[in-house]
Amino acid sequence: MAATPIAVITGASSGIGAATARQLAAAGYRVVLTARRKDRIEALAAELTGAGHQATAYALDVTDRAAVDEFATAFRSLAVLVNNAGGALGADPVATGDPADWRQMYETNVIGTLNVTQALLPALTASGDGTIVILSSTAALSSYEGGGGYVAAKHGEHVLAETLRLEIVGTPVRVIEVAPGMVKTEEFATTRFRGDTEKAAKVYAGVDAPLTADDVAETITWAVSRPSHVNIDLLVVRPRAQASNSKVHRTL
Ligand SMILES: NC(=O)c1ccc[n+]([C@@H]2O[C@H](COP(=O)([O-])OP(=O)(O)OC[C@H]3O[C@@H](n4cnc5c(N)ncnc54)[C@H](OP(=O)(O)O)[C@@H]3O)[C@@H](O)[C@H]2O)c1
Repeated sequence: MAATPIAVITGASSGIGAATARQLAAAGYRVVLTARRKDRIEALAAELTGAGHQATAYALDVTDRAAVDEFATAFRSLAVLVNNAGGALGADPVATGDPADWRQMYETNVIGTLNVTQALLPALTASGDGTIVILSSTAALSSYEGGGGYVAAKHGEHVLAETLRLEIVGTPVRVIEVAPGMVKTEEFATTRFRGDTEKAAKVYAGVDAPLTADDVAETITWAVSRPSHVNIDLLVVRPRAQASNSKVHRTL
C-alpha cells in the first residue's frame, strides 16, 4: 500500500493556513501543522485527528533557521509544502515607516519562506513528485499607498518563487504561487494594526464579501491537486468587489 502523502503547512494556527490544513487533510494528506503558537496547532491537529484525518503539530518559528533545519530532519520524503506563514506590520507611508517593521516583514515573509523551502527541498525532490506553494499576495505584483514594507516583502516572495521555478526545472518539483487580494481573516489586519480592532475593521468596511480563508484554501487545494505535469505558476484571486489593490467598491 502506498504511504499517505504528507503536506507541511506553515502558519497553520489561524486564517488561511488553518483553513488549508483542514482542506488538505480532507483531501487525503497527512498534514503537519506548524506555527509559533503551539496550543492552537495542537488543538487543530486534535480536531482533525478526531474527524478521522492524519494530523500532527510542530511548533516552529520560520525565521529560526536552526529550528527549521531540525524540523526538516523528520522528512525523507514530502509531497507538499505550503509556505503560508507571513503577514503585514503597519500601513505607514515610506516617508515615516519604521525600518524595524520593514525588516521584520522581510524576515518573516521572505527569509521564513527561504528557510523552510531550502530545508525541505531535498525531501520534496526525493518524493519524486513534490509541490511547493508560496502564499504571496496581490501586494507581490503592484504597489499601494501605505503598503511599502509589505509590498517590498511580498515582491521578494514573488521573486523567490519565479527564480526557484527557473532553477529547479527538470526536477520533479513544481512551484505554485497563489496571490490573494483582500481576504477577511480573524488576525491579518489586527496584527497589521497591532491589536487596534477599529482600524482593522476599516480595512473591510462596506466591502461586499471579501474573500474568506476557505476561498483561498480551496484555491490552494485545487492548484495542488492538478495532475503532476500541470504547474499553476501564478494564481491571482480577488473578491469581486476589488479590482486592484487600491480600487475597492465599498457601500458606505
Ligand atoms: N488576509 C489577507 O488579506 C491576505 C491577502 C494576501 C495574502 N495574505 C498572506 O496569506 C498568509 C496568511 O495570512 P492570513 O490572512 O491567514 O493571516 P493570519 O491569520 O495573521 O495568519 C498568519 C499566520 O502566520 C503565522 N506566522 C507569523 N509569523 C510567523 C513566524 N515567524 N513563524 C511561523 N509562523 C508565523 C501565524 O502563526 P503564529 O503567530 O502562531 O506563529 C499565523 O498562523 C500570509 O502570508 C499573508 O501575508 C493574506
